[in-house]
Amino acid sequence: MSQTVETSRDLAPFLNKAERILGPRGLTRDPDLLDPWLTDWRGVYKGEALAMASPASAEEVAALVRLCVDHDVAIVPQGGNSGMCGGATPDSSGRQLLLSLRRMDTIHTIDAESLQVTCEAGVVLQNLHEAAERESLRFPLTLGGKGSATIGGLISTNAGGTQVLRHGTMRAQVLGLQAVLADGSLFNGLTPLKKDNRGFDLKQLLIGSEGTLGIVTAATLRLLPAIGARRVLWAGLASLQRARALLLHCEATAAEAVEGFEIIPAYSLAAVLKHIPGSRAPLDTEHPWHVLIELVADPSGADQLQDLAERLLASALENGLIDNATIAANDAQAEAFWLLRESISAAERARGPAVQHDISVAVEKMPDFVDMVTARVEERFPGTRAIAYGHLGDGNVHLHVLAPPGSLWGEWQKTEGKPISAFVYDCVTEWGGSISAEHGIGQAKLSELARLGDPVRLGTMRTVKKALDPLNILNPGKLVPLAPEQSTP
Ligand code: MLT
Ligand code: ZN
Repeated sequence: MSQTVETSRDLAPFLNKAERILGPRGLTRDPDLLDPWLTDWRGVYKGEALAMASPASAEEVAALVRLCVDHDVAIVPQGGNSGMCGGATPDSSGRQLLLSLRRMDTIHTIDAESLQVTCEAGVVLQNLHEAAERESLRFPLTLGGKGSATIGGLISTNAGGTQVLRHGTMRAQVLGLQAVLADGSLFNGLTPLKKDNRGFDLKQLLIGSEGTLGIVTAATLRLLPAIGARRVLWAGLASLQRARALLLHCEATAAEAVEGFEIIPAYSLAAVLKHIPGSRAPLDTEHPWHVLIELVADPSGADQLQDLAERLLASALENGLIDNATIAANDAQAEAFWLLRESISAAERARGPAVQHDISVAVEKMPDFVDMVTARVEERFPGTRAIAYGHLGDGNVHLHVLAPPGSLWGEWQKTEGKPISAFVYDCVTEWGGSISAEHGIGQAKLSELARLGDPVRLGTMRTVKKALDPLNILNPGKLVPLAPEQSTP
């Protein structure tokens, strides 16, 4: 984009034309309406926006993008604003257009025969879950932010969540995609084809591109038949090495039935219990680590699931893998177990300053990696506490480093956060892992990706970005690091 600074008067023609494209409901500059969408979910990034556009159709998105090209206005696409890396927050210039997809929330078709749903980008994940359930189907991907996360955002960030172990990330759920590209053209790839070798798979390029290559407007997603039964188990155990052994044991005993396997340290459980009034620990015994396991069965195996869950826990106890365990007695208790797991992040946020890392290493190395990295962080940064929780079965944990008691929110992250994160990412890189397992790069990890990313990979990302968005109009300053010669020293 050109570097000329336009006055707000220069942008008046743009805003008038945008309003004509979108109608009165489709554009707002009201600070009160804009405000909640200008800060990211974590409360780390605060931006300004020229206006918030809320188109009602892909055609309106396309027309708006063409207008932005003509007026050199950058666009920041946004879904539920529940991202973890500031990827949907505009910069502080006040010249970027916030493009909310939330009005586009129609579920077009749910096809029980082909097990597919086609819906607009603004559909909230929980609404999709409920719509599928009404047809005796299910959409398998789920995560803590399901009440606000939208399908478009989940696709743009290739979201993961708690069911990846069995069903894969968002990438594995997307069968077809519709998106508006940076020149305002509409890519219509909604119809899924099982085989299609006509060249580059644009859909795969757009998934996980954080709105930097195109704006996802609709998708066709895979569905599964509704489950016949589920059991949610909770176990207390001594170490992460045992947790990994337990996972192998679960896979050997229950194979495909193992749908979720999440680790929770004692510290996080205590924080959540304090955070949620009236919540209760599943076990009445203390343990350094807890594991939440979800088993599911299709209708034909539903009757045997309780027996399988009991056998699994009995043999794990007998083998010394776990020290205590329970099975949720009913759906309400199962939900209560999951709520404990899904509230870790919010509980910790309420507790005080922390820096978060969403990292992966090879699955089999994760227990030793966590032991090593938490000890090294606490030794190198005295007074901090490092905790790891999450998706052990995916080789992905959320490693949060909590500030020493009394540290000031914001201030501490600014001074201490950066060296701590650099230290953690150096360790991850040493172990051949990823500095972003599921939350993406956004603006939060841009400089660390530039510092540690493979130069060939980064160079290719820049080439692709330049080819598809030569004016740098789509979500600039996110995901794709500038070339070293463009960065300020
Ligand atoms: C989770 O797994 O709970 C989220 O991805 C991590 C978070 O909320 O920090
Ligand atoms: Zn996660």
